Amino acid sequence: MSDKEFQTNTSEWFYPPEHIVQNANVPDYETVYQKAVEDPISFWAERAETLEWYQKWDKVLDDSNAPFYKWFTGGKTNIVLNALDRHQKTWRRNKLAIIWEGEDGEKRSFSYWRLNQEVCKFANVLRSMGVRKGDTVTIYMGRTPEIVIAMLACAKVGAIHSVIYGGFSEQAIADRIEDAKSRVMITSDGAWLRGQIVPLKDNVDKAIDRSPIVEHVIVVKRTGQDVPMVQGRDYWYHDLMALPIASTRSETEVMDAEDPLFILYTSGTTGKPKGILHTHGGYQVYTSTTLSWVFDIKDDDRWWCAADPGWITGHSYIVYAPLILGATSIIYEGAPTYPYPDRWWRIVEDYGVTILYTAPTAIRGLMRFGDAWPNRRDLSSLRLLGSVGEPINPEAWKWFYNVIGKGKCPIMDAWWQTETGGFMITPLPSVPLKPGSATRPFPGIVVDVVDEDGNSCPPNEDGKLVIKTPWPSMLRTIWGDDQRYINQYWSAYQEQGWYLAGDSARKDEDGYIWVIGRIDDVIKVSGYRLGTAEIESGLVSHPAVAEAAVIGVPDEVKGNVIYAYCILVAGETGSDELAKELREHVRHEVGPIAMPTKIEFVDKLPKTRSGKIMRRVLKARAMGLPEGDLSTLED
Ligand code: WT7
Repeated sequence: MSDKEFQTNTSEWFYPPEHIVQNANVPDYETVYQKAVEDPISFWAERAETLEWYQKWDKVLDDSNAPFYKWFTGGKTNIVLNALDRHQKTWRRNKLAIIWEGEDGEKRSFSYWRLNQEVCKFANVLRSMGVRKGDTVTIYMGRTPEIVIAMLACAKVGAIHSVIYGGFSEQAIADRIEDAKSRVMITSDGAWLRGQIVPLKDNVDKAIDRSPIVEHVIVVKRTGQDVPMVQGRDYWYHDLMALPIASTRSETEVMDAEDPLFILYTSGTTGKPKGILHTHGGYQVYTSTTLSWVFDIKDDDRWWCAADPGWITGHSYIVYAPLILGATSIIYEGAPTYPYPDRWWRIVEDYGVTILYTAPTAIRGLMRFGDAWPNRRDLSSLRLLGSVGEPINPEAWKWFYNVIGKGKCPIMDAWWQTETGGFMITPLPSVPLKPGSATRPFPGIVVDVVDEDGNSCPPNEDGKLVIKTPWPSMLRTIWGDDQRYINQYWSAYQEQGWYLAGDSARKDEDGYIWVIGRIDDVIKVSGYRLGTAEIESGLVSHPAVAEAAVIGVPDEVKGNVIYAYCILVAGETGSDELAKELREHVRHEVGPIAMPTKIEFVDKLPKTRSGKIMRRVLKARAMGLPEGDLSTLED
């Protein structure tokens, strides 16, 4: 049976075990969902009450200037007040916040007490460098405890962090520094990945050559190789943390609920990455609620979100929400298969992981190595599993469910986006599952699948996924570009005031949502979100390339791989060497995650009469499928 057939097979149910339902933080989805729909304002107010505030809000939702919604206005808070400060007053200060394992086997752990001390110290360091409320700080690091400390320290002093994923390189970093206008950067000498060093500091140096607005670089020593340090600009983290100024006492800045917490760049239809803006108030309410209800966090859990802190999944569910809930998190630095394909399963065994949240691409990648690797490990501590980033194919779902979860751990397949801040369409542990469906909207969330005119699609018909009402952790704008925010998300269904997610989906007869994929020029490669335009501009920045078009082609492990079609400048001829060089060029400019699998040299590209590249035609050709309606094709 192919996946496509399976997707429309909506009748296969998986029921959660009774003890999980009974002990769940929310045992009854329907009742809670109804309550939230009937009175969302009271619902969110009640959720916000579970947190501490310096001063309570006047208004839960201010929709007077839609789509620039505001939440908990008048409220005074700081996400660090709830993520760290409040735990210091309870027994939790002695609980482990983070258990970290490096790819090289190094181990470190932090209690809430110790983590808070490190954050206070680093907050003082940042202040001593002149970082103030409202400043932006760019962070480009590997998966180490220091990235968490850096993010929290920024939040604590009221600075806005902009984390760039370590899989991006030079031009991508430079663009993001420029857009955020960061004077201060935090990085490390390198990161371990598959036994090799990712040269993070090196990439930062080259990016700053292109974007010289950075005045200070703080460098965490992780891999220990020699890196050049620019005098007066670069400082070692450990040197700064040893200064008397780095005291363990530090005030948490009092922020308005709507003050910016972070910018996170993500890919869209055009080349320029979008700085998605999230704020202190609504974001903490929503992320902590969703983590507690979906992954059912209990005090004795060992939560492992195996994502990267450099993506929204890591921001929300490695850093902020778990700390707000006082949970113990596992963070692992490196590759799942290093040195052997059982590394992840060994981590589950070693630390008694109870909840594992990962992505379909990782599951498929590990599945390839067979059942013997996981079977050799004791995975009996697991209670819940999770999947995010792209639709999960039933084969991977079942392997995860049966081989990893031993048929007793429900899989929470959560659909959401950088823009949404938290889980939007997702089961709770009490909800019956259908493999491949993210099931139903989270309480307080109203979604639908609609046609061009905004009519609800009949069951099992493809349409556009929309979110009909605002929610606390929604993006507030695109950094520095309010108009783009409106155009991108709110113009398609302007009259109705709905948010356009950019995905196509189907709703079945049980109201379960089946997300199909992106409707814009965004490609999901190994769960990473990349814009065709970003990769294309990487290609044309090479002197031999006149024009380029990039498409995503389905791949068994990665979900999609990148195919690139290049028109060369006059006088250049295509060759294997040039293709190799171009791949390297993209690695350098955009990042290893953006490297095309295949590069084809062509004389022309299929275009509409208005000059738009018809990527769907390229895709149909690459996949050997019918090319469809060609009436708009130029020639
Ligand atoms: C896009 C958002 C949100 C964390 C990671 C991705 C796709 C995400 C699912 C899922 C089907 C999914 C969508 C979405 N997506 N989760 N459970 N099932 N598709 O965040 O990088 O902003 O990407 O990822 O296409 O629009 P992101």
